[in-house]
Amino acid sequence: MTEVSNETRFLHAVQMGLGAWQWGDRVIWGYGQAYTDDDIRKAFEASLNMGVQFVDTAEIYGSGYSERLLGIFLKETEQPVLVATKFFPWPWRFWKSSLLSALKHSLERLGLESVDLYQAHAPSWVMTPETMMEGMVECVQRGLTRTVGVSNFGQKNMIRAYTTLARHGIPLASNQVHYSLLNREVEKNGTLARCQELGVRLIAYSPLEEGLLTGKYSVENPPPGIRSSQYADLLKRIPPVIKLLQEIGLNYGDKTIAQVALNWLICKGALPIPGAKNAAQAEQNAGGAGWQLSAEDVAKLDEATDNIKEYGK
Ligand SMILES: NC(=O)c1ccc[n+]([C@@H]2O[C@H](COP(=O)([O-])OP(=O)(O)OC[C@H]3O[C@@H](n4cnc5c(N)ncnc54)[C@H](OP(=O)(O)O)[C@@H]3O)[C@@H](O)[C@H]2O)c1
Repeated sequence: MTEVSNETRFLHAVQMGLGAWQWGDRVIWGYGQAYTDDDIRKAFEASLNMGVQFVDTAEIYGSGYSERLLGIFLKETEQPVLVATKFFPWPWRFWKSSLLSALKHSLERLGLESVDLYQAHAPSWVMTPETMMEGMVECVQRGLTRTVGVSNFGQKNMIRAYTTLARHGIPLASNQVHYSLLNREVEKNGTLARCQELGVRLIAYSPLEEGLLTGKYSVENPPPGIRSSQYADLLKRIPPVIKLLQEIGLNYGDKTIAQVALNWLICKGALPIPGAKNAAQAEQNAGGAGWQLSAEDVAKLDEATDNIKEYGK
């Protein structure tokens, strides 16, 4: 295990974050119908009140609206907030200078001089990880981001990013990947172990499997929109997992299904960033941190979900 660098230590101290994909996204999440800016503001405030101070956004969320909203909320609070955003690798972004230019636009929307974490949203089709990271180096050197992360990077690309940054004395702070009880690919393909070995914080996105791990959806009551077809198969297999989460939660002072699912990720060494559409969801999710499942319960959940999905297909 590489020792965690001083620059990225703050990220390892964060137990729970708040995802901001929902902020302004109409297509997947139904922003403007199911919830409004006011609901989002209250979700943000509830998170801060519960001690969640790390917010993950991206330039593409709501086509920039998520960053704008966060910028407004940041002005309304005195509390310190750690801000992470992302560079999207559009196929017309060939040059390393694209990163600096995109980050400047993100900072304008956020109303900030710098962010705490700037992440490459995914590997690029047209830019090597080396070129991307050279662009990131420039962002750090200009003082526009405190640290650098990647997202959706498999091990090979992650190591290329890590090595390029290391040449400039910059640590790779994080890799943000899909990880939940219902998607354990990063355990199976070695990404989680490699992150831990390198001192890279693994940030778990879709930690509630887009709402499935709250227990409110079933075959009879599928989630709205494209999630219903996306999860048609998985919905058939989750009832025993939901039941187990519920049973385990009772032993920890009535923790909810979502809270147990989030705590399982914390126990695995990941940083979950659940998305929330309103204060009630945000408050509940924040309660997934600050306590710990026993090793025995983690093992029970491992066993129950080991074969829930086929990996590597
Ligand atoms: N890097 C990437 O490529 C990538 C990809 C995806 C996500 N992300 C990041 O990860 C964050 C979280 O992932 P995600 O938003 O995909 O999925 P998620 O956190 O697993 O699920 C979020 C959704 O679940 C439902 N929900 C959340 N908390 C709830 C609660 N306590 N009770 C009941 N329902 C609840 C809400 O939707 P409903 O109420 O509609 O069910 C909410 O929109 C995103 O916001 C984003 O910041 C990154």
